[in-house]
Amino acid sequence: MSNTNQSAGHRAETTTSERIGMIWAEAADGIIGAGGTMPWSLPEDLAHFKRTTIGHPVIMGRKTWESFPEKFRPLPGRTNIVITRDASLHGALRAAGAVPVGSTDQALKAARAAEGAEEIWVIGGGEIYAALADGAHLAIKTVINASPKGDTKAPALDSAWTKLLSDPDSGWLTAANGTEYRVEAWERKS
Ligand SMILES: NC(=O)c1ccc[n+]([C@@H]2O[C@H](COP(=O)([O-])OP(=O)(O)OC[C@H]3O[C@@H](n4cnc5c(N)ncnc54)[C@H](OP(=O)(O)O)[C@@H]3O)[C@@H](O)[C@H]2O)c1
Repeated sequence: MSNTNQSAGHRAETTTSERIGMIWAEAADGIIGAGGTMPWSLPEDLAHFKRTTIGHPVIMGRKTWESFPEKFRPLPGRTNIVITRDASLHGALRAAGAVPVGSTDQALKAARAAEGAEEIWVIGGGEIYAALADGAHLAIKTVINASPKGDTKAPALDSAWTKLLSDPDSGWLTAANGTEYRVEAWERKS
């Protein structure tokens, strides 16, 4: 059985068993990045990110790949699919353990061929969330109670999206370093 929506550019034909999720952490005003990195330190969120995505392919933009320290990439236990328009980068990306692709459609194709493809995780950054949001079913966002300056924003979740849960229901969790945050799960209904 399949589900096709021609109006969404990247909503290629998907099987009903496939789930495409987006995962990010955002501060006030939807800020997710500043100067090529994340403008906060929240180890608890990195652990949550790993627990959520481990065993499944992850799709990211070239700038997000470059935002990871070399010793932490590729993200272990996941096929790391990196999107770039610059074909001259493909050899180095491949040598570094990534699966380089030239478009979002190629990224989805590579993800569907990877281990753990019943769940595909879009892990950023801003350009890639924006390009793939229409085809995603799930969004897991960590909301951080801080207002850093930044240059990259999370995708806006429009009225097609419904909040499934928030942890905690109200208020905040407090990280070991004092940062307040909560984790929300959203589902796209249409
Ligand atoms: N808070 C979070 O959860 C989170 C998560 C991820 C990233 N981030 C942050 O987000 C920032 C990076 O995000 P970003 O929006 O600047 O960059 P990005 O989305 O990571 O990567 C952008 C790059 O992806 C490639 N690309 C984008 N669309 C493409 C398309 N349709 N076809 C082919 N290639 C395409 C291009 O690479 P080429 O230029 O090589 O062609 C483009 O420069 C960093 O600050 C990072 O720390 C935050």
